[in-house]
Amino acid sequence: MYNDLTKDKFLRLKGADPLVLGIESSCDETAVAVLRGRTVLSNIIASQIMTHRKYGGVVPEVASREHTSIIIDCIDRALGEANVTLDDIDCVGVTYGAGLIGALLVGVSVAKAICLAKDIPLVKVNHIEGHICANYIGTELTPPFISLVASGGHTSLFSVRGYNDYTVIGGTKDDAIGEAFDKVARLLGLPYPGGPEVDKLAKTGKPCIKFYKHAKGVSPDLSLSYSGLKTAVVNYIHTLKQRGEPINEADVCASFTAEAVDLLVDTTLAAARRYGQKTIVLAGGVAANSYLRDKLALEGKRGGFDVVYPPLSLCTDNGAMIAMRAYLSAVEGFDYADMTLNARSNI
Ligand code: KG4
Ligand code: ZN
Repeated sequence: MYNDLTKDKFLRLKGADPLVLGIESSCDETAVAVLRGRTVLSNIIASQIMTHRKYGGVVPEVASREHTSIIIDCIDRALGEANVTLDDIDCVGVTYGAGLIGALLVGVSVAKAICLAKDIPLVKVNHIEGHICANYIGTELTPPFISLVASGGHTSLFSVRGYNDYTVIGGTKDDAIGEAFDKVARLLGLPYPGGPEVDKLAKTGKPCIKFYKHAKGVSPDLSLSYSGLKTAVVNYIHTLKQRGEPINEADVCASFTAEAVDLLVDTTLAAARRYGQKTIVLAGGVAANSYLRDKLALEGKRGGFDVVYPPLSLCTDNGAMIAMRAYLSAVEGFDYADMTLNARSNI
């Protein structure tokens, strides 16, 4: 069964055009997709948002249980919609990190079981690389480029030199930008997940509040920080509450968004200039933010850059991006995993 012969099978996928099953369960979406090349044949996403909303955030143990109860159904639906069976699948790609350990283990265990039962190769997928790969789906994008991954767990800048050649060149030293969006939303009593709610409210407000007294410029090491801004918003809201003064929620959202995003955009453009790249690729859940999309597109165009971002449906967690990542790994012979593959909360 699963041994060197399976690895040989994997190596034979090099330069081929495999049919890939992608499985994602790192946080609160159970997602499964079938893909060949850059074409998605099915992309099933079972979101747990309504379950976690009553707790104001993701409860890891609850997430693991929901993944367990729904993942087989998601796989059946993905295969059915793609009009294929497990016997047609050439390899399985699965997110093994980063994420919630219990949640990740559900996807990893199911992927291993399928690969063992069908004797097909398993490809391990780094969730962040998956987000970047959402940009290849249905497009003709090719490396090299600079990529900004902005999500609930990460804010990182990558120099992407090839399909399997990534280097981290900057990013947050503390909190992720999505985490800061969610925190601000919680403070304002907006429902989970807060990012889209802050995005909506910001459109009706003015960026008139300065949370930082002194504007920060691009850091020489392309690093960013969100914990200070988060604390500044917390202090601002608590102070107004203590004084019994009204809080203009829309202005708070617009001001926070501008402060969080402006420096991110400047840092991304500085990274592209420093690395001599013409193309900037946006990825991750916060890539759905309308202010970030508009600002990066505008500033990018002014600076002579091509700015690429995925459709909204592929910004947040999905199985298609994981399948895309696994496809690109398999056709170049990278990231084969055997039955010892384990989930990792950090990579
Ligand atoms: O990539 P993702 O689905 O999961 C992680 O890998 O973390 O990103 C989720 C994050 C959450 O923090 C969510 O609030 C944020 O993306 N998000 C947004 C928007 N849509 C999702 N943040 C700001 N504006 C949005 N429109
Ligand atoms: Zn994600």
